[in-house]
Amino acid sequence: MATTELPPERHAMGVSMKRKEDPRLIQGRGRFLDDIVLPNMLYLALVHSPYPHARIVKIDKTAALASPGVKAVLTGEDLVAAGLGWIPTFHGYDKQMVLAVGKALFQYQEVAGVVATSREAAFDAVELVEVEYEPLEPVVDPFDAMSDTTLVREDRENKTNHIYHWEVGKREETDAALAGAEVHIKERVYFQRCHPAPLETCGSISDMNPATGRLTLYLTSQAPHAHRTVVSLVTGIPEDKIHVISPDIGGGFGNKVPVYPGYVVGTVASVVLGVPVKWVETRTENLTTTGFARDYHMDVEIGATREGQVTALKVKTVADHGAFDAAADPTKYPAGLFGICTGSYDFPIAFTELDAYFTNKAPGGVAYRCSFRVTEASYAIERGMDLLARELAMDPAELRLKNFVKKEQFPYPSPLGFVYDSGDYHMTLQKALDKIGYPELRRLQAEKRARGELMGIGISTFTEVVGAGPSKHFDIMGIKMFDSAEIRIHPTGSGIVRTGTRHQGQGHETTWAQIVAEELGLDPQNILVEEGDTDTAPYGLGTYASRSTPVAGAAIALASRRIREKAKKIAAHLMEAAEDDVEWVDYKFQLKGVPGKVVTMKEIAFAAYTNPVPGSEPGLEATFYYDPPNLTFPYGAYIAVVEIDRDTGETHVKRFLAIDDCGTVINPMIVEGQIHGGLTEGYAIAFMQEIAYDSGGNHLNTNFTDYLVPTALETPKWETDSTCTPSPHHPIGAKGVGESPNVGSPAAFVNAVMDALSPLGVKNIDMPLTREKVWRAIRESKA
Ligand code: CDP
Repeated sequence: MATTELPPERHAMGVSMKRKEDPRLIQGRGRFLDDIVLPNMLYLALVHSPYPHARIVKIDKTAALASPGVKAVLTGEDLVAAGLGWIPTFHGYDKQMVLAVGKALFQYQEVAGVVATSREAAFDAVELVEVEYEPLEPVVDPFDAMSDTTLVREDRENKTNHIYHWEVGKREETDAALAGAEVHIKERVYFQRCHPAPLETCGSISDMNPATGRLTLYLTSQAPHAHRTVVSLVTGIPEDKIHVISPDIGGGFGNKVPVYPGYVVGTVASVVLGVPVKWVETRTENLTTTGFARDYHMDVEIGATREGQVTALKVKTVADHGAFDAAADPTKYPAGLFGICTGSYDFPIAFTELDAYFTNKAPGGVAYRCSFRVTEASYAIERGMDLLARELAMDPAELRLKNFVKKEQFPYPSPLGFVYDSGDYHMTLQKALDKIGYPELRRLQAEKRARGELMGIGISTFTEVVGAGPSKHFDIMGIKMFDSAEIRIHPTGSGIVRTGTRHQGQGHETTWAQIVAEELGLDPQNILVEEGDTDTAPYGLGTYASRSTPVAGAAIALASRRIREKAKKIAAHLMEAAEDDVEWVDYKFQLKGVPGKVVTMKEIAFAAYTNPVPGSEPGLEATFYYDPPNLTFPYGAYIAVVEIDRDTGETHVKRFLAIDDCGTVINPMIVEGQIHGGLTEGYAIAFMQEIAYDSGGNHLNTNFTDYLVPTALETPKWETDSTCTPSPHHPIGAKGVGESPNVGSPAAFVNAVMDALSPLGVKNIDMPLTREKVWRAIRESKA
């Protein structure tokens, strides 16, 4: 895509300005956590449990402590003595062991930490920590966990593996509508456990300065302020004595939201030893211990008339949470925003319920490029709609067009409690069908089928819910999920914007500058964006779940407008006119009715410091804390075209078209980049990736030879386009977009493969659709 360089003082919104951060990053001049080296710094390495479930009989540190360069060995018991044996999980309903005490609950669980003068010395000594285990029977499958035969969490008051039950909607009415439906489908679909696997793993440097009593924490953090507050609450260190710095981050995708044992052990070591302690995860540690995503077993039921009008939806889910309930969800939403499972369709009635279980697996349930379980919900409904189309022998596009919420129904109250802000689903799907040449593709498919070839077309018309969130509903550990921006305009018309968000590759340094430039008529090249430093940035809840643009983006626009209000007074003062006689026209202030009499924002900025309005405050800056009135509901229409090799089971993605609607677009090139990246992740999930455990609880995907990441060779060519229905409640009409492609694409791929296999009677294969699984399905089919 061509990029346009933006001339100064011109319209900045909707422009594909090149990313301001890229020259630094592509020249290798980024500053990532592991680039930071502090004087006298020590290194932490962790000891992991080889067993998925085992009593810890004894830990002998003697040999490790005698190893060259070792300064300390910490165990769970040491942390318990320091009051830090357990920490609360993110939404506050459970607690999590920092290092295993009493028993290890999953394979690779952290059992001890070794601090040494070099990384190598620390890893060498890890091998010398002698841990005596007494292996226990693990429970690996959440359906087995239901019997409570093996109890994962003996520490909890309730002696059961059942964590919680959650439900929303009308159970009886939905059951009655399903029972009376002319057509009824029911299928179990599994969204497998997968992992965000960011390129840069997680890490921390804890630097407790014994002279000042101040702890500086360099963290790969998507939410620096939230981490500062959690560290203060857990350690008792006053918040003014904690400085969190989140440097450049090489991808987060939700993986860098939770607090991990390495951060805590490193901090305790720094407090005890009085020097900085660095901990950087290995790839295996990242894949085996840090926040996984998904792992939802969903029974989808849809009722409909014979003509294909949907009448009811029910989704019943069993969720595998691993050893701790560490899902990163807002407090009131234990199953995240799963209630979006009615999707883009006008269901008169719906009900969804979920039961979560402990198993002997790593904890997590992070919002991996997903606004809190929206990906699972979208997968359930989009697979369900395709299964219904098949039952009705109806074209899946026609079924969707028949049941979409109509544009005149917005704001649309969904039966599960959301109020969708805006959308035109018919227009967007029609655009996709036209662009891909849908009727022609169906003709081609019929020809190929006649020859026995397997070609499939899969549609996914998802609706997302992003921008958490309005403070009356959304908080994390009690902290409301608002966001904030502070903007200072300097005398010569450049400026700085600081926010409580922290990008990890999304391009905020560019898009935030574009918003300020658009609102104030300034040059985005001269608006510096600073995030990730809790000493300077105003408080905010961070970057994940596509919340940055809906929440912080709005705060930036509204802080800019506060500056414009003050600027208007200065403009009137400079023009020696009444404020009411001055208006904002074409990115300048103009004397009403006198087009030649204008004052630019640059002139105003200079005056704010050199010639302020008598009797008023000099300077030109503003802060805005934005509490969104509602969430935003981006959506899309995705179409995948696949061909399957009957002999090998290999799926070839021939085409993939993504039409996205995220309202007003700030930077089309960045949005396109977000879509490409997310589609590639969606492709990987659909065809390649699963965090799997064997029946003995052994982790089977501990590195990138077993957990596959697509390269340019496998990645299909993406075709993208957009429609635009602005959000009516967002100051610039923007909705989030970062998550959409990961949310929408898995169902499109799977629907395409099932469409290809439909002549063989294959109805469902759970992801990942590996060659082997597809080949087996073909062999076992009736044909
Ligand atoms: O929270 P996160 O930054 O991951 O997601 P986002 O708010 O969806 O934004 C991802 C990137 O796309 C940011 O640089 C946004 O400013 C940009 N974006 C945009 O240009 N226009 C939109 N309507 C939405 C996002």
